[in-house]
Amino acid sequence: MKIAIGNDHAGPDYKKAIAAKLESLGHEVTNFGTDTPESVDYPDFGHPVAQAVSDGNVDFGIVICGTGNGIAMAANQHQNVRAAVCWTKEIADLCRRHNDANIISVPARFTSVPQAVEMVEHFITTAFEGGRHATRVGKITCS
Ligand code: RB5
Repeated sequence: MKIAIGNDHAGPDYKKAIAAKLESLGHEVTNFGTDTPESVDYPDFGHPVAQAVSDGNVDFGIVICGTGNGIAMAANQHQNVRAAVCWTKEIADLCRRHNDANIISVPARFTSVPQAVEMVEHFITTAFEGGRHATRVGKITCS
C-alpha cells in the first residue's frame, strides 16, 4: 500500500516507529514532516497528507499531533477525506468498518508508541463494511 504520514512537533518519534513498522511490512510511506521537536503549526503538515488522500495518490493517510484533534480538523477540510481520531485499536477498527475513514489521527500525548503502531496496523488492515454504513457515510459531506 501507499501511505502518507505527517505530524507536528508532538509526533516525530511516533511517526518514525509507525513508518519503520509499515516499511518492514512492505508498504511505501511518504513522509510530509515534521521530523524535529521544534514547534510548528499542525495544519502545515496535515494538509499535504489529506491532499494526497483526496487526490487518490495514496491508499491511506496518517496524521499525528498532541491530541490528534487539530490535525484531524485540518485534514477533514479536504474533499473525500474522513480523518478519525483514534485512541484504542477497537476505535481504529470501527472507524474503518463503519465510517470508511481514510486517515487515522493519532493523539501522541495520550497514547504510547506501541499503542499507536498497533492502531495503525488495525486501521490499514480493516475493511469498510458498506451496507447501512455506506448510506450514512454518504450523508457526511455538506456541500
Ligand atoms: C501543539 O502544542 C498542540 O496544540 C497540537 O499538537 C495539537 O494537540 C493540536 O490539536
